[in-house]
This record gives sequence, C-alpha cells and structure tokens, in this order.
Amino acid sequence: MWAPSHRHLCLAFLLACALSVVFFFHIHEALLYRGLDLLALCSCGETSPVAIVCLSGTPKAPNASVPCPKHPTSLSGTWTVHPDGRFGNQMGQYATLLALAQLNGRRAFILPAMHATLAPVFRLSLPVLAPEADRRTPWRQLELHDWMSEEYAHLRDPVLKLTGFPCSWTFFHHLREQIRQEFTLHDHLREEAQKFLSQLRLGRTGDRPRTFVGVHVRRGDYLHIMPQRWKGVVGDRAYLQQAMDWFRARHEAPIFVVTSNGMAWCRENIDASQGDVVFAGNGYEGSPGKDFALLTQCNHTIMTIGTFGFWAAYLAGGDTVYLANFTLPSSSFLKIFKPEAAFLPEWVGINADLSPLGFEFF
Ligand SMILES: *[C@@H]1O[C@H](CO)[C@@H](O)[C@H](O)[C@H]1NC(C)=O
Ligand SMILES: *[C@@H]1O[C@H](CO)[C@@H](O)[C@H](O)[C@H]1NC(C)=O
Ligand SMILES: *[C@@H]1O[C@H](CO)[C@@H](O)[C@H](O)[C@H]1NC(C)=O
Repeated sequence: MWAPSHRHLCLAFLLACALSVVFFFHIHEALLYRGLDLLALCSCGETSPVAIVCLSGTPKAPNASVPCPKHPTSLSGTWTVHPDGRFGNQMGQYATLLALAQLNGRRAFILPAMHATLAPVFRLSLPVLAPEADRRTPWRQLELHDWMSEEYAHLRDPVLKLTGFPCSWTFFHHLREQIRQEFTLHDHLREEAQKFLSQLRLGRTGDRPRTFVGVHVRRGDYLHIMPQRWKGVVGDRAYLQQAMDWFRARHEAPIFVVTSNGMAWCRENIDASQGDVVFAGNGYEGSPGKDFALLTQCNHTIMTIGTFGFWAAYLAGGDTVYLANFTLPSSSFLKIFKPEAAFLPEWVGINADLSPLGFEFF
C-alpha cells in the first residue's frame, strides 16, 4: 500500500494552503464587487434633493421615498470622509473631500451623519452613501493634516476614507465658487436672516444702506480647551473692541451683529454704548443654522477662533478680522495648525493678548 512520505504530506499541505489563499481572494473579491455593486438613488426630501447610494438587494434607504433604481454603478473610484466634530469641522471635511476627490478624479460621497449635520442648513449636492455600503467597503483611511501638500494630489486609491479635521483654504480655494455653491443656504434660513438684517436697517436710518459686520465669538468648551490643552486664549474683550474699531474706522456706520455660544458673556463684555451692536445670536449648540445664516448674510466678519467663524468669514466674503497668534509659540497646536494655511492672506490679524496664560508656561 502507498504510504505518504513526510515529503508528500508537506507538499499536500502547501497545496492546500495555496488553494485556500486563492479561494479566499476569490471570495473576497466577489464580496467586494457585490458590495460595490451599488445603486444611485435620487430621493427628494422635504428640504433638499439627496442621492442616497444603496446596495443592490437591500431595502430602500431610511427615509427614502423611492426604491433603488435598476442601474448598478461600481463604487470603485469612490471617496468619502469620516464626519467628526461639529458643524464647522464637518464643513471643512466636506469641502476638503470635494476638492481632493476632484483633483484625483474620484467621486465623492458623504456619510449619513455628515448629511444630518449639514443638510438642514445647506443645499448640498454630494450624494450620501448608505450605511451598509460604508460598512462593506474596504476603505483605506488617510488622516489628513490641515494644509494641502503635494502627496494629496497623487492619491491612487480606488476607495478612500479621509479622516482628520482639515479646514484649510489651501485645499479648496481654487474651487471657491463651487464651495460657495455647495454651502448655499436653504431659502427659509436666508430669508429669515435677511428679514432680521433689513429690520435693523430700517429701524435706524431709514433706507440708507448699512454695512453689517458679523461677529462670531467662540466660547463654551474652548474656554478650557485653549488654555489647558493648547496653551492658548480665546478672543477677549480687548480684541473685540480693537476689531470693531478697525471696521468703524473704515466703514460708515457699520452695524455689528454678534452671535456666540456664550451670549451672556458678550452682553456683559462687548461695548454697545455707541448703539451699533446687536446681540443676535441664538446660541448655536445643537442647531447652528440660524446663527450661521445671519453671519454669512452680513457683509464682513470678525472671527475669534474656530472653524465656525472661519466658514462664516469665507462665505460672507467681505473684509475679515481674525485673532492672530492666540497660542504660545511653544504650543503643540502649531504642529497641527498653520496660520498661513488657515487665514486668507488678505484677512487682517490682530494679535491676541497671551498674558492670561502667565509666564510659567514659557
Ligand atoms: C428619518 O425620519 C425620521 C422621522 O421623520 C427622523 O427622525 C430621522 O432623523 C430621519 N433619519 C435620517 C437619517 O434622516
Ligand atoms: C450688505 O449686506 C446686506 C444684507 O445681506 C445686503 O443687502 C447688501 O447688499 C450688502 N451690501 C453690499 C455693499 O454688498
Ligand atoms: C504673529 O506672530 C508672528 C511671529 O512672531 C508674526 O510674524 C506675525 O506678524 C504675527 N501676526 C500678526 C497678525 O501680528
């Protein structure tokens, strides 16, 4: 009788290994392509049209009013971005995804959580990926730093999920018009903001056109995060005074429209004695749309810190005054944040007063 030798057993084992590897790849690929055999679904919600991409064979996406149509498209060549942080962060992620996907010839899809954050405010055009398609796609994740670099123009990945907190104009400024289009307000928000501003104008000096300066004062959690984590400060009373005086010196009778997530502090600390300050903020935690709409409908912007203010200024498009050098030079914040990639060159910086940080930090 033939008895397998040690050598035969080894060979058989190797053959079995090779076969299972081939089999695995086959299955994997089959799963991959089944997973990527997707359908574009145009479902029109009450506020904005949105394309939800769902998998073949799955029921219609949540809240979708029409079932998936019969035109499968492959998801190869599809990029998305991990939605992280709040409103301004997600605007940055959205704009960066749009720009990098375009640059690399890929299609951009957003995830439902980002749609839930941004779509109540803006008429977004990027389609939404169904949660199941997200789960089944073998993404490579790429953590972006917050400025454009050469390598980001040569990404070859067929499927890629961007991560991080990019919010730098260096990614998307060449697409400024398109970005503004994406972040077009829904009519009801724009109209409400316009009505508010026009009443201010009529209430003061008749029909004479006035100049509105949106003031965004970021407070809340940043009151602790800036000094404790980043050796930095938030915009203080003196900064806001200087910034408002900058506009008073350059524009005839400007009106300052203040929004903040710390309106009580603003009322106590912003000098309204000249009669040109309106405390208009609704406190944007949870539903930032109203405050954001108001800021973007103003002609100019005073920012303090944070991406919410950045976006208000970027979209308002007029003169912008920002808080500059708001951390100690030794802050690790400067490793992830490059001021020259964050603020447009034409914006005007006013240096922060770092004295509250004390000297023990040096
Ligand atoms: C779906 O609709 C329900 C009720 O209208 C709503 O509460 C929920 O947030 C919606 N989900 C998504 C993902 O839009
Ligand atoms: C300033 O903003 C108001 C409100 O949005 C607008 O009506 C007006 O046309 C703007 N002025 C200029 C000069 O753009
Ligand atoms: C911030 O600090 C740098 C380095 O000291 C300086 O070059 C720059 O002018 C400062 N920015 C402003 C707006 O003063």
